[in-house]
Amino acid sequence: MASIYTFVLFVSFFFSHGLANIHSNKGYDYGHRMNLRVNKRDFGQSSIVGSLPLVDGQPQPRLEIRTLQKNHDQWNLYILALSWMQYTSQDSPFSWYQIAGIHGAPGQTWGNVAPLPGNDNIGYCHHVSILFPTWHRPYLVLYEQTMYNIVQFIASLWPPEDLDRVQEAAKRFRIPYWDWAVAPPAGESVFPLSIGGSSVVNVSGPNGIQSVSNPLFSFAFKPFNGSIFPDSPYNKWNETKRAPYPISDPNAISNNSFVAASFDKHLPSYQQRLYNLFANYPNYTHFSNEGWIGQNNSGTFDSIESLHDSVHTIGGGGWGHLAIIAYSAFDPVFFLHHANVDRIFAMWQVVHNDSYVVPTAAVYASHTQNQGDIEDIWTPLKPFFVNDTSFWTSGMVRDLETFGYTYADVANKTRGEVVAAINRLYTDYSPATITLRSNQHSLSHADQEVDDQTPKTRSQQHSHKSRVMAWRHEPISHLPMNVVFQVDSKGKSYREWIANIEVKKHALKSSFLIYLFLGDVPDDSSSWQSLDNLVGSLGIFAGPDRSMRAEHGKVTGTIPLTSALMRMAVDGDVQSLAPEDVEQFLKPALQLRIALVDGTVVSANEVDGLRISIVTSMVTIPTTEDQLPRWGEVKPIFDLVI
Ligand SMILES: *[C@@H]1O[C@H](CO)[C@@H](O)[C@H](O)[C@H]1NC(C)=O
Ligand SMILES: *[C@@H]1O[C@H](CO)[C@@H](O)[C@H](O)[C@H]1NC(C)=O
Ligand SMILES: *[C@@H]1O[C@H](CO)[C@@H](O)[C@H](O)[C@H]1NC(C)=O
Ligand SMILES: *[C@@H]1O[C@H](CO)[C@@H](O)[C@H](O)[C@H]1NC(C)=O
Ligand SMILES: *[C@@H]1O[C@H](CO)[C@@H](O)[C@H](O)[C@H]1NC(C)=O
Ligand SMILES: *[C@@H]1O[C@H](CO)[C@@H](O)[C@H](O)[C@H]1NC(C)=O
Ligand SMILES: *[C@@H]1O[C@H](CO)[C@@H](O)[C@H](O)[C@H]1NC(C)=O
Ligand SMILES: *[C@@H]1O[C@H](CO)[C@@H](O)[C@H](O)[C@H]1NC(C)=O
Ligand SMILES: *[C@@H]1O[C@H](CO)[C@@H](O)[C@H](O)[C@H]1NC(C)=O
Repeated sequence: MASIYTFVLFVSFFFSHGLANIHSNKGYDYGHRMNLRVNKRDFGQSSIVGSLPLVDGQPQPRLEIRTLQKNHDQWNLYILALSWMQYTSQDSPFSWYQIAGIHGAPGQTWGNVAPLPGNDNIGYCHHVSILFPTWHRPYLVLYEQTMYNIVQFIASLWPPEDLDRVQEAAKRFRIPYWDWAVAPPAGESVFPLSIGGSSVVNVSGPNGIQSVSNPLFSFAFKPFNGSIFPDSPYNKWNETKRAPYPISDPNAISNNSFVAASFDKHLPSYQQRLYNLFANYPNYTHFSNEGWIGQNNSGTFDSIESLHDSVHTIGGGGWGHLAIIAYSAFDPVFFLHHANVDRIFAMWQVVHNDSYVVPTAAVYASHTQNQGDIEDIWTPLKPFFVNDTSFWTSGMVRDLETFGYTYADVANKTRGEVVAAINRLYTDYSPATITLRSNQHSLSHADQEVDDQTPKTRSQQHSHKSRVMAWRHEPISHLPMNVVFQVDSKGKSYREWIANIEVKKHALKSSFLIYLFLGDVPDDSSSWQSLDNLVGSLGIFAGPDRSMRAEHGKVTGTIPLTSALMRMAVDGDVQSLAPEDVEQFLKPALQLRIALVDGTVVSANEVDGLRISIVTSMVTIPTTEDQLPRWGEVKPIFDLVI
């Protein structure tokens, strides 16, 4: 029988709150007038994951973080609720600490869902697993429901003249996602300033405008217990960090500009990977996870999990918590990133709705599962209760509207409309939609259409994206069509080129990055993530997790080469995209480098199980916006010498 927690707001919340104000670490002060109501309030947080209330019978959309920010009331409620959750006593199962702690460290037992013998130090999450997309879905809903309940309560504190308006905004509140694969508005980074721009933020709450610690910038443990992160330097840092420096310093400073620059340089790579996943991964087994199982095919090396891993490693930027599986969920970016992964999963489900979870052996153990156990649509997604006695299963989470949320990219949309959105959002670096691009109208995120307050941004995005095709953030206006395209009875087609990578996930007992460059590479690995001649990197998301043994778990991923080659073709550096010309060009030009997330350079021949194969496929381009490109057989051309 599951215990149902009742979340009582302890008086100590406000005392510790007040004390924290002495330091830079600061939450929102609701004021003495409200404390009485706050302290008496006893709202029911439950370990049962349910559906959020519909509004006018409709599930509400999770918005992109930049869109949410334009909604004044919802944005302030979001910041206040994040801050609230982060200041909630770590003894509460609904604190930031414990909800994040379900994923990996500290290997806690949550909701009395006991570990299997020997698995007590491992988190509940499923990685390298057929359950990767489905397990994270109810996990996000548990977080969303916790936030939602806090939002409703905070909204009730506004004075009568504002109460209706704020409560109306609160009813529609859903957690935002951060789209790391879409071209940002002109002049902005892929990595939003609201996340990494400042450690403090002004928030407008029921007790006026106040400056508080930005809950998206970091999570500060309250208190910090170094033994949950047994290894240095994490055992010294009492808050989450991104690209921190100097490492040995307990006060190491995050460098979010470094993280932002890295995301900007990786946009072409992430966009190509995502587009290829939608277009050429109709089988859920291949799409869902990076396990070697079922991946022995040149056309199926990538997966949403592998792309998600790369975002983790770049987001951590060196020693950051986000780059280590077991620590990542404490960084506030985690839930924004995973909401985007869930949205991509939802979009993929519309496009390929006939393929789903099939029985597959678990590659790694989790808190409640042993390595080798068969996972299928009936596997309980622990610790997420559907009622007092049972857990959600992959079969039950297939339709996201079950939970009362949706995304504007899938809500009320036909398959053709979802495909059209994919073609609009994710082809800035692909020739696939070049002939469709001339007559485009709105190119913004669908959720901006939901929000009527954004005409300016929409036109900004439109002018930003009306370019023909971009590479390294420069528009290509004169693509030599005869070099790139060929026309036959099947239509117009071109060649995709990809580096297929396989490697053992725990080969280096740490997360690491595999980089590909065209031309010279400086020795200093700290510059690699933002070099102009970077083609892409594949992040292997691991960490100092002793429970994961190196002998198991080969994983796969890709670094697309097409947009880089396209640019070389424009500049005349490569004669054509035919295999002879490309092989002759790439063999001397393509440079492989490997570094641990902390920057330590590793020689490729020290990496167990590493193999990189350059593969190609003919791709027939779509003739209408509601079609995806059609891939031919993906054939290996040559292997990189390791
Ligand atoms: C908060 O508001 C104050 C007063 O308007 C302003 O000086 C400060 O720059 C703002 N801080 C942030 C982080 O926006
Ligand atoms: C710190 O965490 C360790 C490991 O989870 C635990 O055994 C210990 O009791 C904790 N210490 C405190 C003071 O909470
Ligand atoms: C976090 O650690 C730093 C460095 O030891 C210290 O200055 C700071 O006061 C700590 N913050 C909290 C909230 O404990
Ligand atoms: C932070 O990163 C930026 C961009 O890479 C770099 O220019 C800057 O020197 C870094 N700052 C510190 C303090 O390391
Ligand atoms: C999907 O891929 C898996 C693993 O390769 C395979 O067993 C299964 O038959 C495929 N499903 C379909 C519908 O092709
Ligand atoms: C992968 O394919 C190769 C060649 O087709 C074959 O020799 C090998 O046994 C396959 N490996 C696995 C794990 O299926
Ligand atoms: C999949 O989509 C097709 C066409 O959009 C629809 O006819 C079919 O019912 C869908 N199948 C499922 C299982 O949702
Ligand atoms: C709990 O949910 C399961 C799965 O939907 C169902 O079979 C069971 O009857 C439910 N139990 C109760 C007590 O509602
Ligand atoms: C879906 O359509 C319904 C009915 O027209 C509408 O009320 C709802 O707002 C739409 N949902 C979204 C997210 O656009």
